[in-house]
Amino acid sequence: MTQVPNALVADLGRAKRIDQLLAAIDEHDHYTGGHSCRVAAQAGLLARLIGLDDRTVERVKAAGLVHDIGKVHIQRHILRKRSELTECELAQMKMHPITGAAMLSYIPGMEELAPIVLHHHERWDGQGYPTGVSGIDIPLESRIIFVADAFDAMTTARSYGDIVGTRLAIEEIDRCAGWQFDPSVAHAIKLAYDKKWLEPNGIEDRIPAVDIPRHPY
Ligand SMILES: [Fe+2]
Repeated sequence: MTQVPNALVADLGRAKRIDQLLAAIDEHDHYTGGHSCRVAAQAGLLARLIGLDDRTVERVKAAGLVHDIGKVHIQRHILRKRSELTECELAQMKMHPITGAAMLSYIPGMEELAPIVLHHHERWDGQGYPTGVSGIDIPLESRIIFVADAFDAMTTARSYGDIVGTRLAIEEIDRCAGWQFDPSVAHAIKLAYDKKWLEPNGIEDRIPAVDIPRHPY
């Protein structure tokens, strides 16, 4: 009988669990399901552009798919609310990285994604949440997902916020580089836009790593 390498079994197991989690997100809130897939693809592209190795690119994509899993604990009417959130609702929203990380930490094979998910709303200047950690103390994978998340939120229809065009979204991320976003990741998404590599389903497998100036990771 053919022996299947343990590493492959583990990856297949993780892929199945990610599919199940993604289905749960999509069932709870369809927008968040689609958003998660787009963020994973764009984050994978950015990780590839920055020159990260294959395993790290895969980890970024896996974390991108489940980065908002904590939102399954937020009531649908809050997720879909069109008007401004109340203070209480905002507090609930801001809990989703913590609940998401807690969920992943209990699922075999998903533990390494937990810290990435925990910190995916942290800002480069330390004004993010939930911990307020800043700069290179934020996991690199989280910084990448944060940029991909912001780009998708600005360019797609969701319950709250206005849709802006791709060019304006890139300009906004560029403007916020160095205080909201990791400047290296912001540079990568601008480069991807300039090169016309930003596509809905991601094309990172065809993109060579390019020489992007970056902070020491
Ligand atoms: Fe999020």
